[in-house]
Amino acid sequence: MNTEQLVKTFIEYFEERDHHRIVGSTLLPPPGDPVLFTTSGMHPLTPYLEGRPHPLGRRLVNVQRCLRTTDLEEVGDATHLTVFEMLGTWSLGDYDGPLSLDWGYGLLTEGLGIDPGLLHATVHAGDEQTGPDTDSLHLWQDRGVPVELTVDDNWWSNGPVGPCGPDSEIFLWSGEGPPRSTPTRDDRWVEVWNHVTMSHRRLDDGSLVPLPRRNVDTGLGVERLASLLQGKPSVFECDVFDPWRRLVPPLWSLDETSLRVVCDHLRSAVVVRGDGVRPANTGRGYVLRRLVRRVLTVLWRDDPSRGLEDLPEEPVRHTLDHFRQDIRSGGVLRVLREEEHRFRRLLERGRQVLARPRFRGRLTEDDCHYLHDTHGLPRELITSLRYE
Ligand code: ALA
Repeated sequence: MNTEQLVKTFIEYFEERDHHRIVGSTLLPPPGDPVLFTTSGMHPLTPYLEGRPHPLGRRLVNVQRCLRTTDLEEVGDATHLTVFEMLGTWSLGDYDGPLSLDWGYGLLTEGLGIDPGLLHATVHAGDEQTGPDTDSLHLWQDRGVPVELTVDDNWWSNGPVGPCGPDSEIFLWSGEGPPRSTPTRDDRWVEVWNHVTMSHRRLDDGSLVPLPRRNVDTGLGVERLASLLQGKPSVFECDVFDPWRRLVPPLWSLDETSLRVVCDHLRSAVVVRGDGVRPANTGRGYVLRRLVRRVLTVLWRDDPSRGLEDLPEEPVRHTLDHFRQDIRSGGVLRVLREEEHRFRRLLERGRQVLARPRFRGRLTEDDCHYLHDTHGLPRELITSLRYE
């Protein structure tokens, strides 16, 4: 089953259960959202989760592209991507968490043919502010799915303020042989689907207040589940990476982890540019800049003559088409290549400046500010140049 079939099966399953499909938005969250990029399908729905009636009703389903910079250091393992797609369902004050879990179980086992013996769930154990989620616990016990109870891992929030609540996560066993241990103790349990009961809102002062009505917000990682259904060892082997994995290795010889980082970051940079972001020294533009620089740092580690001139348009076009982004692949490549030239010049200048006697010893805060403000050298770059 490729990702497109997975998305179709998921959406149809929930449409049969009276959910309306809504169009996913870009990576840029609505104004007022506390994060730079959409990190989850619920972002564009925040006003409705906080109580405003949605024009399409109280049951919604969609696929939403997301970007998570918190996972940047983890990219290269088997399950983390910077840009990924999330299938989501919402009950806006309609049905409750256990029904959502029951449908989730039905879709995974009957709809997608997953062996129920390969599933594990986690449920919120309760804390001083909210009681244990016994309804979800009983649902899983009735279905014969093993459950682990946790506190912090089963509380989901969108940034420091805003809607939040207890969640129940569904994990799929990815190891060889029969499942063992539990999700918090063995990372061969891969989280595929999170069902959040959005019951509260966190205020600026850190306090929690109940929302006017309880909602359910779920998110399923498309590439993660697709790669597991396709029997692939990592998200980088599922079909959305096909042109990247076919065309990048003949260009540059890379170990598997570096190949994953290069493919992930280039693909993510394409999507970010496709949503209208330009490289910059702050905000979203800086995330794009960092993605490109991380790619180049990996490529130049072995051979500084490597460059994005060699990258063909095909994987860029494939990615833009996949995300239905109406922008020319040649234009995206040009922005990435300009960024490469800027980075090369910056490194050359940085090496010359740092070679001055003043900067040979320990750098003070004033030195770092001067290097940044006068020579455009960010702190992380200063550190890496000094350890070359
Ligand atoms: N909003 C929830 C998540 O991203 C479903 O995990």
